[in-house]
Amino acid sequence: MNSKELFLIEGLAGEKKLKGRVSINGAKNAALKAMAAAVLFKEPVKLENIPDTDDIHTLTEILKKMGATVTWTDSEQGKYSKMTIDTSDISSTDIDKKMGAAMRASVVLTGPLLARFGNVTLPSPGGCVIGARPIDQFIEGYEKMGAKTIFKDGVYEMKSVGDLKGGDILFSKVTVGGTETLMMVAVLAHGKTYLSNCAMEPEIVNVAEWLNACGAKIKGAGTPTMEIEGRGGELLEAKTPFVTIPDRIEAGSFLILGALCCEELIIENCRPDHLKATIDLLKGSGVNLEVRPPDSGMSDLQIRVFNDPKKNTVFKTFNICTREYPYFPTDLQSPIVTFLTQAEGECSVDETIFEGRFKYVDDLIKMGADIKVMNSREIEVKGPTLLKELKDGGELCAHDIRAGFAVVLAALVGKGKFKVNNVHLIDRGYEKLEERLRGLGARIERVRR
Ligand code: EPU
Repeated sequence: MNSKELFLIEGLAGEKKLKGRVSINGAKNAALKAMAAAVLFKEPVKLENIPDTDDIHTLTEILKKMGATVTWTDSEQGKYSKMTIDTSDISSTDIDKKMGAAMRASVVLTGPLLARFGNVTLPSPGGCVIGARPIDQFIEGYEKMGAKTIFKDGVYEMKSVGDLKGGDILFSKVTVGGTETLMMVAVLAHGKTYLSNCAMEPEIVNVAEWLNACGAKIKGAGTPTMEIEGRGGELLEAKTPFVTIPDRIEAGSFLILGALCCEELIIENCRPDHLKATIDLLKGSGVNLEVRPPDSGMSDLQIRVFNDPKKNTVFKTFNICTREYPYFPTDLQSPIVTFLTQAEGECSVDETIFEGRFKYVDDLIKMGADIKVMNSREIEVKGPTLLKELKDGGELCAHDIRAGFAVVLAALVGKGKFKVNNVHLIDRGYEKLEERLRGLGARIERVRR
């Protein structure tokens, strides 16, 4: 991680001339949760298809600091995609203050630690600056299962009073992290747990299926209600490795890039069934895309997105409202807004999940986009507009992982030369983005200030 790094990008001025293939990595938001779930096991667990992103490395360091052994098993071949985690020597349940505060996924770790050791401390969790990110749903769930939380000097102290027992928990807000975490606690608790109003994201199902294959009894993952039979404190057995599903947000990001910048882009190793809402919107807008079978030796599907270089295709605009899975994801809101600046007509974008996720819009406006900010959750976009180089060497800012991708995309679509700062935030979620874009013919380089 280096906060002094910038991307220098030469825009394509709307030409769709990038071409090639891109392979989708494992989903960071599933891999992080599987890493946390390693605490539920009595023996070392193997994890595969792990993305080599900064958030994964931060959680690795957090686990190591508590006494776990985390080993990348393919690093000798120059890769970081397979790891083994052994939590049998964990000697501290204090989540490191600095690292824990830097990432949201640290809150998920509280569940398995609490379930196994009965206590945990957590610094106020951070992650992307996309609005308030309370943890009340976790605290209320733990309370129902027999653990109390106090907040002292910027640190949450969670402690179980006796054995953790199954609970009947209704989430008053649909929460991905809350659903995953309470599910993990319930696996080791005494008795049955019922979770209602659960999030249904594929990453939750990915982790639940693995836990079940290792002895957990979780029913209903991927639906609004779950039932989990606790193991009364008995740890899980590492019967099978965790294999991370392809990252649907990374695939969706490249899909939007393909529509805006590519003559042809083949997106390999993806799960189009996890991207239905996005695919439907793009198809309806006039984007050419087709789902294709995998190449031999690969198991996941491909999406081909293409543009006729001789025709200037004009995409039709559409309204967006971000919602929980299976609807349009908040994590693709910013890349799709870049797309909408290039589509014809007027539309509104409603962000219903996070209230602080439009910070990047100022930069798009400075580039010439016609966007009205109605309030912290709603904007209106009118297109198409030519996005231009910023005056006086101005820089575009990666405010969070996804907004970072959105401004890189805007620079690629735009006319002129662009600088993007805060690249370390992009590195939290997209592996080697500039190398992969260069592979498609984009002019982008990483430099130190
Ligand atoms: N919320 C509460 N109380 C809680 C928990 C959540 O009010 O106790 C609220 C949040 O403030 C938010 C809403 O519920 O308004 C949904 O939050 P959720 O808990 O679902 O989000 P998360 O688990 O913190 C994960 C991803 C995010 C992604 C969201 C929504 C990880 C590590 N992060 O966050 O990913 O945007 O789900 O899909 O899994 C990203 O990858 O760039 C990213 C931000």
